Amino acid sequence: MPDSDRWIPPKRLVGAVNKARTALQHITQRMVPAPVTLLEMATGGWVAQALYVAAKYELAEAVAEEPRTAKQVARLVGTNPDATYRLMRALATYGVFSEDKEGRFSIGPTGDPLRKDSPDTVCGLILMFGHPVHWEHWSNLGYSVETGKPALEKLRGMPLFEFTEKNPEFGAIFNDAMTSTSKMATLPVLAGYDFTQFDRIVDIGGGHGQLLAGILQRAPKSRGVLFDLEAVVAGADQVLGDAGVADRCTVVAGSFFESVPENGDAYVLKNIVHDWDDETAARILRNVCNAMHRDSKVLLVETVVPEGNSPHFSKWLDLEMLVQATGRERTEREYDELFSEAGLALTRVVATVGPASIVEAVRG
Ligand SMILES: C[S@@+](CC[C@H](N)C(=O)[O-])C[C@H]1O[C@@H](n2cnc3c(N)ncnc32)[C@H](O)[C@@H]1O
Repeated sequence: MPDSDRWIPPKRLVGAVNKARTALQHITQRMVPAPVTLLEMATGGWVAQALYVAAKYELAEAVAEEPRTAKQVARLVGTNPDATYRLMRALATYGVFSEDKEGRFSIGPTGDPLRKDSPDTVCGLILMFGHPVHWEHWSNLGYSVETGKPALEKLRGMPLFEFTEKNPEFGAIFNDAMTSTSKMATLPVLAGYDFTQFDRIVDIGGGHGQLLAGILQRAPKSRGVLFDLEAVVAGADQVLGDAGVADRCTVVAGSFFESVPENGDAYVLKNIVHDWDDETAARILRNVCNAMHRDSKVLLVETVVPEGNSPHFSKWLDLEMLVQATGRERTEREYDELFSEAGLALTRVVATVGPASIVEAVRG
């Protein structure tokens, strides 16, 4: 079944589940002594590293077909048997693996998206979040909080996208992680917004084209333009080809700080504006505004920060932006102000069943 035809739960159901989850979280916090809760939070990094190592050595793949002991897994993937057992046992407490009475592991209730080929894979993201390079950036969060500047720039002496371009190994991991986020966001975005109304859809900073490919599958009469830096679009052929949309998609290399392709009916920018401070984000959006015709729409796909202190992924992604880039996650009011700076006007925010929303704007 093509990805775009898979069932996703309705927004109301997801909203209700999230509400129940928050309520349960509050109850747990009150039941458990505060030091225990805090220590669980303080050791969250251990879990992230354990997941990273499991993804790197493909432990989920090793037990996907048949249950295996840690010893068998270790022989298959080339790791130490005792250490492999300890890792899988720890991850089994989070349901990533299940262990039977004979000591054989299989994939547990939360483990399948750890596999690269899972339809719900988040493997690319896990491989980036736990990578020693990324880990080092986060270990300098204190610098970012002291100065308000990205730890990445302090450590690498250059901004994020120059770093990913000049370091192909980490660049490839970063781009795969972006493809992973787009895979996750594509279905909720497609379910939340009708793209068939547009003839020409331009994806600005579209990476390897994962989202655009999904949009074009869902909108079979539309044509697409994938726009990103030269080194990035060079890796797009496979994604567009696999999705069967290459013949309806033009790939354009360039910088959104110079100009962007003209006359799109829709300009999609997913996780672009959040990478940049207000002044730079407004510059990108101004270039988009200059390329638009009178009726074009701008569609930002971003996590919008809700007012108040309710839990939301945007508040953590915001710290990722602080550490890695000069950007931030924004509230609806902040998007409204940013659009005004760029000659645009916010028309609506469409929530999806995922953490991202579609923030729509037209010429102001
Ligand atoms: C956070 S990633 C998002 C990628 C994709 N939209 C997604 O959500 O998967 C930011 C993208 O902006 C691209 N980018 C950075 N600087 C750029 C520039 N000056 N011109 C065009 N694209 C740029 C990067 O190459 C990267 O693909």
